[in-house]
Amino acid sequence: DGFTAAQLFGQGTTYTYDDVIFLPGHIDFGAHEVDLSSHLTRTLKLATPIVSSPMDKVTEAEMAITMAMMGGMGFLHYNMTAEEQVQQAKRVKQHVPGFVTRPATLAPQSTIADFESLKATRDVRGVCITEDGQPGSRLLGVVTSRDTDFLNDRLTPLSEVMTRDLDTASESASVEQVLEQLKKSKRKLLPVVSSQGQLVRVATKATFLEEQRAPRRAATSVDSAGRLLLGAAVGTRADDRARVDALRAADAVDAVILDSSQGDSTYQLDMLAYLKKAHPELQVICGNVVTGRQARSLIDGGADALRVGMGSGSICTTQEVCAVGRGQATAVYQVSRMANARGVPTIADGGIQNSGHIVKALSLGASTVMCGSLLAGTTEAPGEYFMVDGVRVKAYRGMGSLEAMAKGSEARYHSDTQNLKIAQGVSGTVRDKGSIRNQIPFLAQAVRQGFQDMGVRSVSGAHAALKQGAVMLEARSSAAQAEGNIHDMHSFNKVRW
Ligand code: XMP
Repeated sequence: DGFTAAQLFGQGTTYTYDDVIFLPGHIDFGAHEVDLSSHLTRTLKLATPIVSSPMDKVTEAEMAITMAMMGGMGFLHYNMTAEEQVQQAKRVKQHVPGFVTRPATLAPQSTIADFESLKATRDVRGVCITEDGQPGSRLLGVVTSRDTDFLNDRLTPLSEVMTRDLDTASESASVEQVLEQLKKSKRKLLPVVSSQGQLVRVATKATFLEEQRAPRRAATSVDSAGRLLLGAAVGTRADDRARVDALRAADAVDAVILDSSQGDSTYQLDMLAYLKKAHPELQVICGNVVTGRQARSLIDGGADALRVGMGSGSICTTQEVCAVGRGQATAVYQVSRMANARGVPTIADGGIQNSGHIVKALSLGASTVMCGSLLAGTTEAPGEYFMVDGVRVKAYRGMGSLEAMAKGSEARYHSDTQNLKIAQGVSGTVRDKGSIRNQIPFLAQAVRQGFQDMGVRSVSGAHAALKQGAVMLEARSSAAQAEGNIHDMHSFNKVRW
């Protein structure tokens, strides 16, 4: 029954995830027994095979911290200066689980209206009042809803309502001591301050409870010193070498992505050669690629992993604008076939809309998946929530959109800034998806069930079955795709992950 992947993908049609379907295998194990751990690069392994895209509306420190805590990993975008990227990376590496490293702050002269709008846009329950309204300056008080609930004048300054008599913890206290103090205080948050009284970080009841539930999560992704794993994207220009040097000098990243929509270039090979010599311990991820030939060139150059996909992303217009690319299922299969044989893991990047797409990407040879739109719109994504047509949304945009390129990302598309800028992406919004603390475990469990249906116990088992021709697939006609989706319903509720 069905076709092997070699048969299906060798017929001259380019397929994407929705075009193909796997035939079921035999089940003799529980879904909870499925092992999703997988290699991100030659040396880095993750418990959850999901990483976040280096895009300016997807991954900054907060996303990277939470992704690593959920067993995945985040890649910081580089639409910011090298100094800013190093600062973000340090925040991730210095993160202590259970704490908020960049707490919400306002100044004493800020008003109740400012507090209300901060609550709506950043999902915070309390705010620290500091001398200049920034973290790092002297802590003066704390405001929570309890202080403002019965006040009608929205222009009242927070200095008039804040709690000044504060419980604070010292920066030198151990994590256990701070959490014990929080437990006893019965307050929503406990600020940690330096010996000069500056706000350093905050322990909140919500993050503390989250830590208590931690055993239910996949193992946190950590480096050999127990700090969270982190990646960052960089370009291939001369100043990008200095950027990586700075990130490494701060001991702040474990892997870098050489970010390009077409990775098979002399720019990337030269950068790869430089990095392998200057930073032998650093894992270097090259791409993007969609063919075995491109993959071979970068593997020969020493790439530690390959990022696969060209024009498959939700915000991408590369295939339409440049007429180059490949259907993502075919690209993942063909690149992984060549890369896995050489011991190099692949990352299926772009086009992941649901858990089924993750099952397909991993079963077609990818070791991990990279998500942009799926993670955009979550609490951890950069940016604030706002309303469009009655729906709560956050902004999301392609790094090749005119808006993102205006902030500096045009290098990814080999754009010549002297001339006309050609957009290869769009800009828009995605709906509020809540926290990835809920989303990632849901996705992981759905993927385990997909593997169980296929009779596969692990990601490496899926790769072995694919190689042996033991996994069977078929192409789906458009009627079969329509049948596979919800149909003939007047109305229905659907979880939107
Ligand atoms: P998803 O589908 O997860 O895709 O939103 C995220 C991936 O899309 C790529 N990317 C782009 N591709 N034009 C493109 O052609 C763009 O402007 C653009 N921005 C991001 C990137 O690989 C990302 O991980």
